Parts: sequence; C-alpha cells; structure tokens
Amino acid sequence: MEKMVNVYLFGKKYSVPAGLTIMTAMEYAGYELVRGCGCRNGFCGACATIYRIKGQQQLNACLACQTEVQEGMYVATLPFFPLVKQVYNIEEIKPTEQVMMQLYPEIYACIGCNACTKACTQELNVMQYIAYAQRGEYEKCAEESFDCVMCGVCSSRCPAGISHPQVAMLARRLNGKYLAPGCGHLADRVKEINDGTFEELIENLMQKPLDEIKELYNNREIEK
Ligand code: FES
Repeated sequence: MEKMVNVYLFGKKYSVPAGLTIMTAMEYAGYELVRGCGCRNGFCGACATIYRIKGQQQLNACLACQTEVQEGMYVATLPFFPLVKQVYNIEEIKPTEQVMMQLYPEIYACIGCNACTKACTQELNVMQYIAYAQRGEYEKCAEESFDCVMCGVCSSRCPAGISHPQVAMLARRLNGKYLAPGCGHLADRVKEINDGTFEELIENLMQKPLDEIKELYNNREIEK
C-alpha cells in the first residue's frame, strides 16, 4: 500500500502520498496552482515556500517544486515577496561603488547576521555577495549570485530590509554591460538577426507541417 504522510497546507490537514513534492501534494489535495507556480524545475523562483515541522522550532524555506513532503509539515507559500526594485537606466549608470550607495543604501546597514544565507533556497552565500556589492566588486557579486532565482526568501528574513536579489541583479547587469569581456560572435549574430539574414529561413520553416519540424529538430546538428 502507498505510504502516506500528513501535511498541513495553509493550516488544513491532508494525507498525501510520500515522495510527492510540496507542489504536487497541493495539487493532489485539490488546489489549483495559479500563482506561485512556474517552471516546476527549480529555476523560476515562483514557488518560494516556508514550512515548519510539527514540534520543531525552526522555520525552513524551500522551493515547493523541489522539496518532498514530510510527516507533520506545516506549509505556507510566498507566491510574491515585495522586494524593493529601483529603476535605473543601465546606459546612464557606471560600475562605481557610489551607484550602490545611491540605489540600494540599505546594504550598508547589514548587521552580518547571515539569516539571508541560511534562508537561501539555492544555498548561495548571500551575505558574501552583499559584501562584494558594498565594496563595488561587481564581478565577484555577479559570480556569487549567478544561480539566484529571485524567490525573495533571503529578503523575508533580513532585519536590515535589504532586497538582496535586486542588488545582485544590478551587479550582474553592471558586470555584463561594463566589466565582463565582450563577446564578438554574439554581437555578430545579433547584427545578422537585425539585418534579416534568417528571415527567409524562418519563414520556410514555419510553412512546414509540425511532424517535419519535429523531425528536423530531433535530427539537428548540435553545436559542440
Ligand atoms: S516553479 Fe519555478 S522554481 Fe519552482
């Protein structure tokens, strides 16, 4: 017989098969996921979730699509977390230390509690990438934060009110725009697209029946 576990979804008790993810357990229990559900593969960050195991003090954070249910799990999802998002024109700002001071001054109020790192659903060293941002070390900040899915759980735990994912996003943009070495073949390909080089090719492809397109896709030449 299938092993079942008891979970509490939004405060209501359900018996669900062990081995389901929190997300599939919600669907098993009859919830239709409209918000808080995207790629289902741990990339989009839409399914940030907090949970506590019955009888334990610790509050845990995870992605609902990547985490299996456990006996006695109390679950609440965070389909949206209100991060502070500053508006800037990447063409007008420069990768100086001052730009962080102007746009995200709260990062200098970090008290070093490391709650952000402990809460990260991607196991990133969040406090470290904020330290890099404070020092204007945007290449390092970009590298350290590269796998951020912007779920916002780090910010939900931060006593200084830092919006870590947005700080990291700015660092990655500055890095991509001004610091990382240019990518010649990408520029060439963008120019080819803008010049319409592939338009006829795409047009011909779109006229083909679906099965033929699938066949072409399955037997395509894969770049080494
Ligand atoms: S649904 Fe995209 S990360 Fe979970």
